[in-house]
Amino acid sequence: MDKCKVIAIANQKGGVGKTTTTVNLGAGLVNCGYKVLLVDADPQGSLSLSCGIQRPDEMDYTLANLMRSIASDEAIPEDLGILYLTDGVYLVPSNIELSGVETGLVNIMSREFVLKQYIDRAKNDFDYILIDCMPSLGMLTINSLVAADSLVIPTQPSFLSAKGLNLLLGTVARVKRNINPDLSIDGILLTMVDGRTNNAKDIIAALQNTIGKSINIFQTQIPHSVRAAEASLAGMSIYAYDPSCKVAKAYEEFTKEVISRETRSKDRLRNDRAR
Ligand SMILES: Nc1ncnc2c1ncn2[C@@H]1O[C@H](COP(=O)(O)OP(=O)(O)OP(=O)(O)O)[C@@H](O)[C@H]1O
Ligand SMILES: [Mg+2]
Repeated sequence: MDKCKVIAIANQKGGVGKTTTTVNLGAGLVNCGYKVLLVDADPQGSLSLSCGIQRPDEMDYTLANLMRSIASDEAIPEDLGILYLTDGVYLVPSNIELSGVETGLVNIMSREFVLKQYIDRAKNDFDYILIDCMPSLGMLTINSLVAADSLVIPTQPSFLSAKGLNLLLGTVARVKRNINPDLSIDGILLTMVDGRTNNAKDIIAALQNTIGKSINIFQTQIPHSVRAAEASLAGMSIYAYDPSCKVAKAYEEFTKEVISRETRSKDRLRNDRAR
C-alpha cells in the first residue's frame, strides 16, 4: 500500500479558505512529524505567496514547466522542481503561467492525467502531498482530483457556499465514476466561522442534516479571525505567526482529525484484507 496520502483541497467557490487550509494543514502535519509537499495548482499563486515567495510571477521554474514537460514526454529535473522552505515544508510553486497550461491541456492525450503523472513520481518521498486547487471546476481541478486519494472541502457557513457544494459533489462523483474510482471525500471543513451569528448556526445545522448525513463534516470549525489573514499576508503558517491564537488551535485540532481518518481507513483496509 502507498505510504503517501494525496489530498486535494478543493472548492470552486472563491475565497473560502482553501489556500489557508493547505498552508496550515501542511504545517500542522509537519509539526506531527510528517514529511509534507504542498502543490500550488492555482495560477493565482496564492499558496506560493502564503508560503513566503514574494513574487511568484517572476519565478522561472514552476508547476507550469513541469506539467508542460510531462504533457510533451520531456524529462523533468531530478529534484522534481521542488523547493524546500525553511519551516520544514516542501513546495511546488505556481504562477500565472499555469493558466496557459490549462488552456493547452485541451488538445493533448490523457489530459486529465498530467498532474497525476507528476504526483506519482513525487509520492515516494513524502508522507502527505496537499494540492491547493484553484476556484473553478476546470481542467486543472479535474487533474487535481484525478491525482488525489481524497479531498477536503473548505466552505464558509453561508447560503451560497452551501448551495455551491452540490456542483462540486457532482464533479467529484463524475471523476469517481469515470477516472478515479478510489477518490474519497475526507470531509467538509467549515471555515471563517463566526459562531455568534444565528445565520451561521442555522446553515451549519442545515448542512449537518442534509449533506452531513452522507459526507463527513469535520468536528473542528475554523473560527473567523484577522490573525489568519495576517499570517497569509506575512507568508507564514498560523503556528509561526501566532501559535497561541484560536485559529492555530483550530487548525491543530483539524490536523489531528485528518490524521485519525487516515489511521482508521488504513485499519479498515487491513481488516478487509485479513478477511
Ligand atoms: N479563518 C479565517 N478568518 C479570517 N480570514 C481568513 C480565514 N481564513 C482565511 N482568511 C482570509 O480570507 C481570504 C481567502 O482565504 P483563502 O485565500 O485561503 O481562500 P481560497 O479559497 O484559497 O481563495 P481562492 O478561491 O481565491 O483560491 C484570505 O485573505 C485569507 O487570509
Ligand atoms: Mg486559494
